[in-house]
Amino acid sequence: MMKLALLFFMVSCCYAVPKNLSGKAFTFGGVTNSYVKLHPTITLNGDINSASVCLRYFSDILDIDRVQSFFSLATRTHINGFLLSKKGNNNHYHIVGDSLAQFWGLPAKLNSWNSVCATWDSITGLSQLWINGKPGSRKFIFKGGTLAGTPIVILGLDQDAYGGGFNQNDAFIGQLTDVHMWDRVIAPCEINNFSENKKFQGGNLINWQGKSAWE
Ligand SMILES: *[C@@H]1O[C@H](CO)[C@@H](O)[C@H](O)[C@H]1NC(C)=O
Ligand SMILES: *[C@@H]1O[C@H](CO)[C@@H](O)[C@H](O)[C@H]1NC(C)=O
Repeated sequence: MMKLALLFFMVSCCYAVPKNLSGKAFTFGGVTNSYVKLHPTITLNGDINSASVCLRYFSDILDIDRVQSFFSLATRTHINGFLLSKKGNNNHYHIVGDSLAQFWGLPAKLNSWNSVCATWDSITGLSQLWINGKPGSRKFIFKGGTLAGTPIVILGLDQDAYGGGFNQNDAFIGQLTDVHMWDRVIAPCEINNFSENKKFQGGNLINWQGKSAWE
């Protein structure tokens, strides 16, 4: 089983604080090296065969040529292990195992908090992305593969190398909060609850409220 103790965060550089981030959001201004690194504190001995990530973002950037990265998880074998980003306002990207799915036309709003959830399952290879509780079409991306080894998770920038290779042109500009990751495909009712700020079981791998299934 993959275990991350994601109570340790590093902002830009050089300090680490264990934190319960409930009710807190990070602001990304598009300045050099503005990112948040989530520190795994446990070495992984196993693989991930399915995963879900949910988060909320607030942005007013409509530049249709600009990719903005919310969540970038890299392993040594898959730099784009699990990535969530958007281009313009209504083209959302989900990459798992270096394989891309794009989701168009979901109801994301400018100048408003948007809830994003993405799920992936290795048995079917299918990815699905939800915006504000509305599901996009299922897409085939990464079948039979796993995410293995110690992951590095970066919020606000895309890793083009393990733990680095940042390109400021991909920087997210706006605010991010409520980041959760599970090692399973979460159910539509859980996604709806997350999107509507109702009760949901927080991520067992990453949990914004600092609770984990292994505590
Ligand atoms: C969704 O939220 C409702 C209302 O808070 C709650 O009763 C229900 O148990 C929640 N469902 C899940 C899957 O957490
Ligand atoms: C984190 O803070 C929130 C809000 O204050 C609280 O509800 C939650 O129980 C806290 N989590 C832990 C693990 O203490």
